[in-house]
Amino acid sequence: MKYRFKFITLVCTFLPFYAHSGGDPDFVKFPEGYQQAFTQYDTANRANQTQVAKFYANDIAIASYKKGEEATPGSVVVMEIYEPKKDAAGKIISGKEGIFEIEKLAAVAVMEKRSDWDKAFSQENRTGDWGFAVYNPNGTPKSNDLNCVQCHTPLKNQDYLFSFQKLVDFAKKN
Ligand code: HEC
Repeated sequence: MKYRFKFITLVCTFLPFYAHSGGDPDFVKFPEGYQQAFTQYDTANRANQTQVAKFYANDIAIASYKKGEEATPGSVVVMEIYEPKKDAAGKIISGKEGIFEIEKLAAVAVMEKRSDWDKAFSQENRTGDWGFAVYNPNGTPKSNDLNCVQCHTPLKNQDYLFSFQKLVDFAKKN
């Protein structure tokens, strides 16, 4: 009995991390036209050091951070993920300031904050009202095994964004 109890506790503890993965394209839609409508606030090599990312935010997000507030519902942040150029030996080619040279767009990761999410969008797949989804460059959902919530949730004190400081600095300057 004791064993079974422990097992169930274990499963319940880890289930939230494995039950769902890859974001929620049913609720978090591809932001059509973001390259024109949003503002690019940073370009950086990804933490994994195998890709390079361009970061965009919509006007609502920028206006919120400019005022020193957290993102207002309606805020959308996009990370374009690019494959870097490699030389003949397969080594990534770095350009200006060590930023990898871009080969091609591989994926578009989206975070959208709303206060009126559809009830069908399970709370546990969101973090601080941010929903997640990742798309192919053509706007179709990209299958993946990432657990978006798991990595972003610990960043509560920076509105769940890794690039928070970059975005705040950008918003305050512009
Ligand atoms: C393993 C941890 C991890 C997982 C899982 C993860 N992210 Fe992130 N995310 C990061 C990191 C780190 C960054 C900062 C850029 C970089 O270095 O990759 C980031 C940046 C972002 C950004 C740009 C805004 C920001 O936070 O700076 C978006 C949008 C984003 N992720 C969406 C997603 C989506 C959608 C998923 C799920 C499909 C996801 N992430 C899963 C770690 C993660």
